[in-house]
Amino acid sequence: MTGLHVSTHPLIQSKVSRLRDERTSPAEFRQLIRMLAVLLGHEATSDLPLRTEPVRTPLKETTGHRLAENVAVVPILRAGLGMAEGLLDLIPEACVWHVGLYRDETTLEPKTYYNRLPHRANSTLALLVDPMLATGGSAVRACELLRKSGIERIRLLSILAAPEGVERMRTQMPDVPIFTAALDDRLNEVGYIVPGLGDAGDRQFATDPNLI
Ligand code: PRP
Ligand code: URA
Repeated sequence: MTGLHVSTHPLIQSKVSRLRDERTSPAEFRQLIRMLAVLLGHEATSDLPLRTEPVRTPLKETTGHRLAENVAVVPILRAGLGMAEGLLDLIPEACVWHVGLYRDETTLEPKTYYNRLPHRANSTLALLVDPMLATGGSAVRACELLRKSGIERIRLLSILAAPEGVERMRTQMPDVPIFTAALDDRLNEVGYIVPGLGDAGDRQFATDPNLI
């Protein structure tokens, strides 16, 4: 799987609209992020390899399946945390590697403040999660850190993507497929996605400086 995958699923589209709505409360926002991560995760994992194993039902032994590879969920803090919950609902056996990045407000370049990627990873596929792909700086930085940890296979799951971020990922990380719920119009002059949903971290964690 390569390239950009923009979901057309009706459940995803309707949930994205509720997420965008400025009246949506932080509690509902968190719930929507989690459910959208489950739905996007379903699309992003549809081709994962399986291995067979015997399973005994109450009636007889039959052939069962389990994932053939170890998966790591990699949330970009803060806003990726809610998506990680949804991915863990889907793949409870996944390990979670946290990466803390924030955007410098002036340059919009990412600053790394936390890195819990393993020195030697036993997972072969990383599902990188962040609801917003804006300039793409944070996603590219997280991919670079993953590559340094020896992870070659990465899939990026975002909820909203801007064309600018998609282009940057395509140029700098061409072999990382992107799964997104919506491809928006553009970035505004301060690097926010338009029409977007505002600040994904503040809306999830009720830290909008105008409201606290
Ligand atoms: C937001 C968002 C992404 C990043 C996207 O995080 O969650 O990580 O911006 O922007 P980019 O594509 O231009 O890099 P932010 O820096 O606001 O940090 P936060 O999640 O802690 O609020
Ligand atoms: N980060 C956000 O939270 N929202 C945007 O629109 C862009 C980056």
